[in-house]
Amino acid sequence: MSDTQHTKTFLITGASSGIGAATARAAVAAGYRVALAARSTDRLAALAEELGGPDRAIAVACYVADHTAQQAMVAATLAAFGRIDVVLANAGIGSTAAGIETGDPDNWREMILTNFYGLALTAKVCLPEIRKRRGHILLLGSRAGRRTIKGSIYGATKWAVTGLGYNLIDELEGTGVRCTLIEPGMVDTPFFETPKPDALKAEDVANAILYAVSQPAHVDVSEILVKPTSH
Ligand SMILES: NC(=O)c1ccc[n+]([C@@H]2O[C@H](COP(=O)([O-])OP(=O)(O)OC[C@H]3O[C@@H](n4cnc5c(N)ncnc54)[C@H](OP(=O)(O)O)[C@@H]3O)[C@@H](O)[C@H]2O)c1
Repeated sequence: MSDTQHTKTFLITGASSGIGAATARAAVAAGYRVALAARSTDRLAALAEELGGPDRAIAVACYVADHTAQQAMVAATLAAFGRIDVVLANAGIGSTAAGIETGDPDNWREMILTNFYGLALTAKVCLPEIRKRRGHILLLGSRAGRRTIKGSIYGATKWAVTGLGYNLIDELEGTGVRCTLIEPGMVDTPFFETPKPDALKAEDVANAILYAVSQPAHVDVSEILVKPTSH
């Protein structure tokens, strides 16, 4: 068996930026090979190169609301690395305008498709491979999925992710597959147009993710809420 087939593979959606890119760097530092998926192929290619090139990291163009594209993402990862051990379903977008009365329905559709449907598809297409490896699936939810934020459709998509996570945890019970719901408070990433100096850094969330995946096989970290100390 080649070295490629021995090394664990970590697939990340939304890997071109923010939390996904920070997790990719942390995963490579921890010894994983990484498959980096998002829409921005130029940014993914630059990150894959930074992380060591094709033996260590591949870039996969994927719009997560497209089932066929997600199936192709899994096929490309298996073609390159032969296995998928860990998946982080992380791709997400925010609101363009606040409020239910004042928000933009086209933006709502895209948020629902990306933040919720896209995560469910990632779980669906990856689970057969994750089952084979008794691996780990992580869903990137939010603190916004555990509290109310007035008029927030974004927050409602994250409540849906919380429900998806709880139900997936139940579905996987007894299979040996571990499932973790990651729920950050505010994180200073390109998700926001302006810097958020009091927020978490993307690396703080990556640390929480690597904590969950590095536990011994009998320890299943179901949920991590991580927030800035200041608010
Ligand atoms: N920042 C925060 O305060 C915060 C707090 C809690 C939870 N979160 C969640 O954390 C996740 C990552 O956010 P972030 O803060 O790291 O933001 P970010 O820097 O804007 O990263 C978002 C990532 O998602 C990708 N993406 C967006 N729509 C996509 C689609 N339809 N198909 C494929 N990829 C898509 C983006 O890449 P492309 O544009 O290249 O496709 C990018 O890689 C999101 O789910 C977000 O809701 C963020």
